Amino acid sequence: MTSEYPFFFTWTAQSGAKPFELTGGDGAHFTTADGARWLDLGALSYQVNAGHGRTRIVEAIKRQADQLCLSAPNAVYPAKVELAQRLLAMAGPGFERGKVFFTLGGAEANENAIKIARQVTGRLKLISRYRSYHGASMGAVALTGDWRRPAAEPALAGVVHVQDCYCDRCPFGQRVETCKRECATNIGATMALEGARSIAAVFLEPVPGANGVLVPPAEYWPLVRAACDEEGALLVADEVLTGFGRTGKPFGFQHWNVTPDLITVAKGLASGYATIGAVIVSEKIAKHFDDQVLACGLTYYAHPLACAAALETMKLYDDEKLYDNAARLGPVLRKELDAVAARLRVKSFVRGQGLLAALEVEADGEAWKKLGAELSQAKLSLHLDPKRGTAIFAPPLCITETELVSGIRAFGDAAVAAFGGVA
Ligand SMILES: Cc1ncc(COP(=O)(O)O)c(C=O)c1O
Repeated sequence: MTSEYPFFFTWTAQSGAKPFELTGGDGAHFTTADGARWLDLGALSYQVNAGHGRTRIVEAIKRQADQLCLSAPNAVYPAKVELAQRLLAMAGPGFERGKVFFTLGGAEANENAIKIARQVTGRLKLISRYRSYHGASMGAVALTGDWRRPAAEPALAGVVHVQDCYCDRCPFGQRVETCKRECATNIGATMALEGARSIAAVFLEPVPGANGVLVPPAEYWPLVRAACDEEGALLVADEVLTGFGRTGKPFGFQHWNVTPDLITVAKGLASGYATIGAVIVSEKIAKHFDDQVLACGLTYYAHPLACAAALETMKLYDDEKLYDNAARLGPVLRKELDAVAARLRVKSFVRGQGLLAALEVEADGEAWKKLGAELSQAKLSLHLDPKRGTAIFAPPLCITETELVSGIRAFGDAAVAAFGGVA
């Protein structure tokens, strides 16, 4: 049976859709039409970093609508200029004289990053990982390694997938204390196997998010950077999910003292208050297009309402020091999840960086269904991925410690009811 609604729900058979009528919210909570108030431990789709009901962002959109509501790709206005300046400043060294290409979301950001990388290098091939999600459009879904890719194949020629930095279940059969970081060195080896100087770019989420919060070992990013430099390949940090403080730093890659060549963003950029994404490119990449045509474009490029929303969101992050809050609460989230894991009868792993964490549990489909029902009862919203055996936590960055602790403890009760507790 299909749903009663005259539109599609995404990533599901329509008979299996679980609609909910969102009415509003405040801070770390959202409300639904039945009068319920949910604790949002997933920031809706990992996007509401600033929190719910942020009137100052809404007011900024209204002010912009009164001033200028229409645009054209080549039009210039203050919000567009200031937003690009802020993004380049946030990207840090190497990006001071870079440039920003605006998009409407994350997939489009990766789509255009592919095109830019191919245009700059003159090469075709791309490397990404199996446990990754880069978006649903043809190029982005081709980069994607997870279950969402096969239905679109053959999507884009030249994408090579490699194994992940999945330390709890190392695909190279290693233990983290003794391994030689094969997950990273394998990327260099794959480049050589694919043919010398054939790889245009390597696309990586700094911490793969929806695929299980696979926090890499400290050497991972520096090793991949070195492999890219050796081959002349570009390194693209897909910060669509991890950007804007999610991991406790402005950008996720900033944990490892490396500089990517391109950065793709969306989600937290305007915190879901408007649809906007971007590709942020370093000076080196920007310079290429001084005299070469940038063969990329969009009608709604840098729409004024979206730029105003993003600009105000970035100011809010600064004013409320929300990235610091994510860094401060990260260890609290980990500690609480470790306590949940200790209560469970089943084998489990906890991983996390900042306010992005996963609990991986070995349990069957029925147990996961029960967990969903228990969480619904407790009015806790988070991302459950029974296919991967993970519950993923990514609350708004404005969540308080009290809300976080009580939320994770309530999650623990639900998990014990679903998976069974220790005797
Ligand atoms: C890492 C990453 N990249 C890209 C995307 C795609 O973004 P969008 O849904 O805005 O197209 C997502 C969405 O979840 C994501 O998590």
